[in-house]
Amino acid sequence: MAEKKIKDQALVIFGASGDLTHRKLIPAVFDLYMQKSLPDNFAVLGVARSEMTDDAFREKMKEGVIEFASMKTTDEKIINEFCSMLHYVSINTSDSADYGKLKQRLVELDEKSNVKGNYIFYLSTPPSLYPLVPSYLAEQGLNKEEDKIRRIIIEKPFGTDLQSAIDLNKKLYENYDEDQIYRIDHYLGKETVQNILVTRFANGIYEPLWNRNYIQHIEITAAESIGVENRGKYYDNSGALRDMVQNHLLQLLAVVAMEPPMSIDASAIRNEKLKVFQAIRHYSDSELITNVIRGQYTEANVKGKYKKGYRNEADVAPDSRTETYVAMKLFIDSWRWSGVPFYIRTGKRLPTRVSEVVIHFKPTPQTLFIDNPEFRNDGNQLILRIQPDEGILLKTGMKIPGTGFNVKNVNMDFHYSDLANSYIPDAYERLILDCMIGDASLYTRADALESTWGFVQPIIDFWKNNPDAPLYGYPSGSWGPDCADSLIEGKEQTWRYPCKNLSDDGIYCEL
Ligand code: BG6
Repeated sequence: MAEKKIKDQALVIFGASGDLTHRKLIPAVFDLYMQKSLPDNFAVLGVARSEMTDDAFREKMKEGVIEFASMKTTDEKIINEFCSMLHYVSINTSDSADYGKLKQRLVELDEKSNVKGNYIFYLSTPPSLYPLVPSYLAEQGLNKEEDKIRRIIIEKPFGTDLQSAIDLNKKLYENYDEDQIYRIDHYLGKETVQNILVTRFANGIYEPLWNRNYIQHIEITAAESIGVENRGKYYDNSGALRDMVQNHLLQLLAVVAMEPPMSIDASAIRNEKLKVFQAIRHYSDSELITNVIRGQYTEANVKGKYKKGYRNEADVAPDSRTETYVAMKLFIDSWRWSGVPFYIRTGKRLPTRVSEVVIHFKPTPQTLFIDNPEFRNDGNQLILRIQPDEGILLKTGMKIPGTGFNVKNVNMDFHYSDLANSYIPDAYERLILDCMIGDASLYTRADALESTWGFVQPIIDFWKNNPDAPLYGYPSGSWGPDCADSLIEGKEQTWRYPCKNLSDDGIYCEL
């Protein structure tokens, strides 16, 4: 259950000299500061190997705040005031002997900033340190809650396969209870992902239709137009299945497919999501071949600019068979979803950056309005747009004014940008605040995490044991391998090809 008032506390960030801290974490804390959401007494302690003074750390973070915070201000005094709460200590994070120095620094912070021994430890480090840092903290007694806050936030990737995820959970449990462990999945922090719960459970009209009787199929897309950028080293050992499907896409699936929770609290919500993960049908090898498609982007000119193929990206093996695209059809074997296919896809270097869920309702049983070349009676679509142009769109049949009964599909849409207060908090802002409050609803529990790895593990194994299994090339800037279209059953059914603007779709919209 969430605590009411946020206790005074310090946020201790491991990996403080890294990209995530500078681009996401500190800007998110700054946004909380601007909205007066931080506790009365608060401090940040950055921890990393590089030698840096507090002042040098503040200077670096100031640049991050100016460039990346959502709450923009030109008032340098405000930014400096915020930065005065930031501190830094350099230790060798993989050497347990150095943690005494960290503890000493925390004791000093307690005195200086009155954070009362309450600490959140944020691990934004290479994953190899995930088992180590928490146990070195424990050696210093920094895991002991008693009446204090002692929580750890762990970034993805949480494991690289099922066994490593189980091992990491076990290792953490040696010194921490489950309710001290916050496994982050930034998709769950997105305002529009939480709005899926509100759409479903705050409206009487959707839920009666939200099942196998009225829904024909569901699509979930997370498309990106960027390539692997400078993350080739990580990505070539990961691929889209581990990077996006095991976590973000399956979390989205759970939010769309879960039963109504008994209340909006962490354990009720997470119990329902777990049931979805447990009900996802696992593939046999032969089913996998027809239901999972992987692809890799190849070189192409995109909007007049040359884009390298994946194999020519920095730190990627020239003969790499790592997938940058995955599409799959899956089933949830539950009372509600029996027989309803879910199609999920994600990829890099697709035509646009868009994440959305498309609910395809069944068509009317009879096509009354025949002779309508413009109208295909293939069911209403409800589109829940996660990003960009956040909003909701319902495609519905409407009579074209005039003689006869000509029908046309029209859009009924709501865009967040139409709200008077259209500030959408960044995912990290929401998630860090939730952890400070002690609300883990939007974090992943160990059982759910292991369940999602359990689903992807046979796919990982199959690709590992069958390196010649098809890996389709697709030109950068296209919607992925053509054969992904054939996953979707039904006459003339394909994926929706979304555009930047929620209301538009079609293959040619992003010219
Ligand atoms: C991250 C992945 O978790 O999510 C990245 O590691 C991906 O590869 C990113 O680019 C996508 O997040 P968003 O919020 O931009 O959709």
